[in-house]
Amino acid sequence: MNKLFLPIVACVLAACGSDKQQALRYDVIPLPQEINLLQESPFKLTRNTVIAYPEGNALLGHNADFLADYIEQATGFRPRTKAVKNGENADKAITLGLDSSVTGEEGYRIITHSEGISICGKTANGVFYGIQTLRKSIPAQAQDAAILLPTGEVEDWPRFSYRGMHLDVGRHFFPVEFIKEFIDLLALHNMNTLHWHLTEDQGWRIEIKKYPKLTEIGSVRQRTVIGHNSGEYDNTPYGGFYTQEEAREIVEYAQKRYVTIIPEIDLPGHMLAALAAYPELGCTGGPYEVCPNWGVFEDVLCIGNEKTIPFLEDIMTEIIDIFPSKYIHIGGDEAPRTRWQKCPKCQALIRKEGLKADKQHTAEDRLQSYCTARIEKFLNEHGRQIIGWDEILEGDLAPNATVMSWRGSAGGIKAAQMGHDVIMTPNTYCYFDYFQSEDTKNEPYDAIGGYIPVEKVYSFDPVEGLDEKQQKYVLGVQANVWTEYMTSPEQVEYMVLPRMAALAEVQWTQPGKKEYNNFLQRLGQLAKFYDRDGLNYAKHVFKPMAESETKTE
Ligand code: ACM
Ligand code: ZN
Repeated sequence: MNKLFLPIVACVLAACGSDKQQALRYDVIPLPQEINLLQESPFKLTRNTVIAYPEGNALLGHNADFLADYIEQATGFRPRTKAVKNGENADKAITLGLDSSVTGEEGYRIITHSEGISICGKTANGVFYGIQTLRKSIPAQAQDAAILLPTGEVEDWPRFSYRGMHLDVGRHFFPVEFIKEFIDLLALHNMNTLHWHLTEDQGWRIEIKKYPKLTEIGSVRQRTVIGHNSGEYDNTPYGGFYTQEEAREIVEYAQKRYVTIIPEIDLPGHMLAALAAYPELGCTGGPYEVCPNWGVFEDVLCIGNEKTIPFLEDIMTEIIDIFPSKYIHIGGDEAPRTRWQKCPKCQALIRKEGLKADKQHTAEDRLQSYCTARIEKFLNEHGRQIIGWDEILEGDLAPNATVMSWRGSAGGIKAAQMGHDVIMTPNTYCYFDYFQSEDTKNEPYDAIGGYIPVEKVYSFDPVEGLDEKQQKYVLGVQANVWTEYMTSPEQVEYMVLPRMAALAEVQWTQPGKKEYNNFLQRLGQLAKFYDRDGLNYAKHVFKPMAESETKTE
């Protein structure tokens, strides 16, 4: 066992032995890079503790409010926040500040003395993660306990700059309040990106003012297949969408928590909801139905139609106005070529553009690349970059595209070898719509299939198969939450928790510091936050641990 981990076990025991005095540490999830504690008298957090921040720094002022809120959730009292002049010391305070010597853009340093705590970051983002570490060190329910924070230093920074979760709101729609709750979960796990999958065959979920039928028609399917494409339907309309005002409110909510929202408009496939609204944009002209089934469908956007690219550019114009993210996700997955092969307009465009088949790619593959490149050019001209699913490698990869590798890691490895940025979301480790147990009959919810337990998520090495130079192209890691079989917020919670905790450590912690059994010990403390906040999480990993504890006693 790593030396660093030995005291953790001792500390857990110490905490168990005393219910009024908590022996706390900073060994939270994700595990900080460096924790150096001293045997000196600890800092005592009380209702008189002040949270100080530099006068005039609005971001750190917000951070101070978050810390006060978090402490209140745990203890029942809310420390006062106070703006202080540069250099002024607030007594018995937790002091937030900026310090350019801290490692990493999102790194932080916590220094604890008996007289006070300082949390510094190079940026306000870093200070926010220091706050997360501090709040996760305090027991989730600490109403009656004396809260003693040990003296010493924590120096911490993330392994990857992109730490994401995806959420599909196309198959099932989730209310604004749940999207906010999901963002809070990202913050709790030190994640900084929500990839918001907003459009699908089964529902268009974002208001586009220039094309009102996208939501008037495209946001409602008239029926939904029962189970796994059984051929039987519920014959009940199902719908929902976010107004632009709601989307902006969510963007702002996320920004305050240092979470960037990357919207996805999935094109040119997965577009049946849009085609139901604007059938002239399909190769056959329709009619089309907002899709009641799950799967991959042959009807996709007609790229040869001269209205299609302007339609997409108009949509992107409104999307970039709502979402300030550097990246816009343009999808690109699962677009069958069947309609394009027979469509006179698509074939005419192939001839006009001189798109040629070769050994690896068909002319129709290159038609999708043509579409991707046009949208990339438009977005680049408006100061944005594109991300696409790994299918965008089939054909000619758009020059500045970032590739999101989902069919395993192979697409990501290929893209990194080509010198493109990569985000790893392989369905072998990061698909949270897969079952967490092999005993699927006893699972409380249906799932798409597969088996990805917490341990498997934890074991993921995002840079495996890449040399040092290529590893630099891996921006980070994300888990995907496809919601064909997830009908409620409680079910989404169950599917993501506690797998998000394992993912958080893949994203944040250096591989040399990761150890699964040690992670499980720490997960017990994080799960108390899930309990306190009424979250519905999967308990598989806790059962064997309780059994093995009993055996060793
Ligand atoms: C995907 O899972 N179709 C990206
Ligand atoms: Zn066509």
